[in-house]
Amino acid sequence: MTQAATRLDNFAQSPIRAMTQRCQAVGGVNLGQGLCQVRPPNALLDAGAREFSRVDHSYSAAQGDREFLRAVADKLNRYNGIDVEPSEQVVATIGATGAFNATLLALLNPGDGVVLIEPYYGYHMSAIRLFGLLPQPVRLSMPNFRLELEALREAVTDETRAIVVCTPVNPCGRRFTPVELANVAEVAQDRDLIVITDEIYEHIYYTDGDHLSPATVAGLEDRTLTISGLSKSYSIPGWRLGHVSGPRELIASIRVVADSLSVCAPTPLQQIACHALSLPDSYYLDLRRIYDAKRRRLTAAFAAAGVAPNDPEGTYYLFVDCSALDVPDGWAAAQVILELGGVATIPGEAFYVDAPDRPFVRACFSVPDEALDRASDGLRRISC
Ligand SMILES: Cc1ncc(COP(=O)(O)O)c(C=O)c1O
Repeated sequence: MTQAATRLDNFAQSPIRAMTQRCQAVGGVNLGQGLCQVRPPNALLDAGAREFSRVDHSYSAAQGDREFLRAVADKLNRYNGIDVEPSEQVVATIGATGAFNATLLALLNPGDGVVLIEPYYGYHMSAIRLFGLLPQPVRLSMPNFRLELEALREAVTDETRAIVVCTPVNPCGRRFTPVELANVAEVAQDRDLIVITDEIYEHIYYTDGDHLSPATVAGLEDRTLTISGLSKSYSIPGWRLGHVSGPRELIASIRVVADSLSVCAPTPLQQIACHALSLPDSYYLDLRRIYDAKRRRLTAAFAAAGVAPNDPEGTYYLFVDCSALDVPDGWAAAQVILELGGVATIPGEAFYVDAPDRPFVRACFSVPDEALDRASDGLRRISC
């Protein structure tokens, strides 16, 4: 009577929460959790203050508010190069998380294999496990976290039904290239797989070249579910707004599941969020500038401490190789950084099934500049 369901066997909560508690206990700087602590755009906050009493406070249609769906479709067309019919090919969801969960539940059966690129985002793995699917990790090759065709082929078995592609990648910051995505297309076509993307960091990148959505790559157009959301692009993770788009028949099933799980995404916030989706290009340039400055600051702080941060192409994380600390693994590295430097990070083990290639930690730089300054002071104390 008092026992949890068996689907929770072997299901551990992310170490992110444990690190947050340890950090609070020592009064440290928390660079562990991927909280998005940049101020939302003023234009959006002003629109919210102006319009909140006038927007619709009831349920929206299961697939989403009509204007929000149109705004998402416009953005997919303008920014991602994906053409969709808003009422039939988009579903508004409770964050990108809700989109991912509804997509897995709607399109896959228990026991189906899902190829997950390592290092992966922990919630992707949790959902795969929670829904009784079979995770099939494929590791990015070191030292540059490249997605190799052979590795991808080897991960696929007769059970495989889907490949999950997160780009830019949380935690290692890679933006997959046309060649890497063409490899995904080749395998997906050969084995008749669906591709589920997570492009939540699509506007946060530091290298040249526009964001490349897998759904625009030859061979992936008709088999890809494109997921994104407003949490990171507009710094409003608490609004819980995301979306999934793709082929009509697949979206029709996802809509049924999303309805069943949560009825709809918050209607008033969908309506107000249309103001975010119509912000000019200059907004995104500024967002990238803000993150680029924070990235450089934290990179310099880790480098001064003698450990080697990666050079992320996108996202707001550093994935730091702590080999110089002479520690056995990422857990020990995170412990040293917290004890000596007062800075909480996440051990790399949180992003792999088996031991990672190196003692990595992930550090989030979407925090106020004062927190980065305190982190820099702390990291100086561990210099090796
Ligand atoms: C890769 C990735 N996907 C999804 C999310 C969560 O998105 P949402 O707030 O839209 O559910 C995060 C948040 O850290 C993330 O890193």
